[in-house]
This record gives sequence, C-alpha cells and structure tokens, in this order.
Amino acid sequence: MIFDEYTIKSLIRPVPDFPKPGVVFRDITPLYQSPRAMRMVADSLIQRYVESPVTHIGAIDARGFLLGAVLAYELNKPLVLFRKAGKLPADTLSESYTSEYGECHIEVQRDALHGGEQVLLLDDLIATGGTFLAAARLIKQLGAEVYEAAAIIDLPDLGGSRRMQDADIPTFTLCAFE
Ligand code: PRP
Ligand code: HPA
Repeated sequence: MIFDEYTIKSLIRPVPDFPKPGVVFRDITPLYQSPRAMRMVADSLIQRYVESPVTHIGAIDARGFLLGAVLAYELNKPLVLFRKAGKLPADTLSESYTSEYGECHIEVQRDALHGGEQVLLLDDLIATGGTFLAAARLIKQLGAEVYEAAAIIDLPDLGGSRRMQDADIPTFTLCAFE
C-alpha cells in the first residue's frame, strides 16, 4: 500500500489544553481505529527495515508497544520492552528524563540486550525526545546500539528530533506537526 501522508495526518486529532492548559495534544487514536491507515504505517516501516541489520525491536511504554509488536512479528525479531518505572520484574536498569509533563523513569531488563546487537526503537511520537534519549542510554549501557529510533509523529517545535540528532541517534518519522 502506498504511504499517503495527508491521510495519516488527517487521522491525528489536535486536542487543545490536554493534559494541561496550553498543550495541544496530538491524539493518535483515530489513526489506530483505521485499519487502512495502520496498514500504511506498518507497511512503510516494514519496508524501511526489512533488509536492515536490525537484530531487536525496542518498544516504548505504552503507545510504542502497539507498533513494536507489529514490527517484531513482521520482521521476525525479538521484542524488548522499555517500561515506565516499577513495571518490569527481575533485574532492571533505569534512566530518568524530563518530559513535557515532568520527571519520568524508564526501565529495561538487564538480560534483554547484549553487545553488538542493533535495536530499532519504536514509539508513536517525538516531543522533547526525553523518552527516546533515555531508552538509547539504556541500550548503550547494555552494550548494544540504536540502529534507528522511529515514530509516526515528530513535533519539531519541542526540539526532540534536534536533540536526538545532536546525540547522534538516527531518527525517522512519518509526519510532523509544526
Ligand atoms: C508520550 C509518547 C512518547 C513520549 C514522547 O508517552 O507516547 O512515548 O510521550 O515525549 P518525549 O519525546 O517528550 O519524551 P507518555 O509518556 O505520555 O506515555 P503513554 O504512551 O503511556 O501515554
Ligand atoms: N500527543 C501525544 N503524546 C504526547 C504529546 C502529544 O502532543 N506530547 C507528548 N506526548
């Protein structure tokens, strides 16, 4: 299916003053409710990575899990979960970061990744980049590498994709809202 950015963007709804006054929240739920649009998103990501050296799919809690599961299934790669603090059992590593809404922590299991592995990180959206950057630090601590961090939406005005570029993390997004 051919990727149509106009269709994708038309299914992302701006919600003013959510979750707090002054924020225009980009609501992706209409996109998730469109099988045709979701197939477009999934197909374009599958096509981009099907012949890449990616060894693992890293999915970010919670909206990144949805894309992560589809890509891990289609590319036949192990799925590694990056979860909000306190959700993962066994031995974990943790990183803190500051998002638009405050201080957060993200965790991964220590035995999930090893030296030389190439991780495709997936999430729905890049805002400040704090989440992806924290997940990338965890991947590095485990000796693995970020092959690319991919999301459906970039919000360039919040500076995340620029911060990721400055940190030498290859980044790919399907659309942007200025
Ligand atoms: C949102 C979004 C990204 C992150 C982007 O998740 O799904 O994970 O924020 O923001 P950043 O670039 O400033 O880090 P949220 O933390 O709201 O969690 P959710 O997926 O559980 O709704
Ligand atoms: N929409 C959805 N998720 C988000 C946003 C947004 O505008 N900003 C940070 N996380």
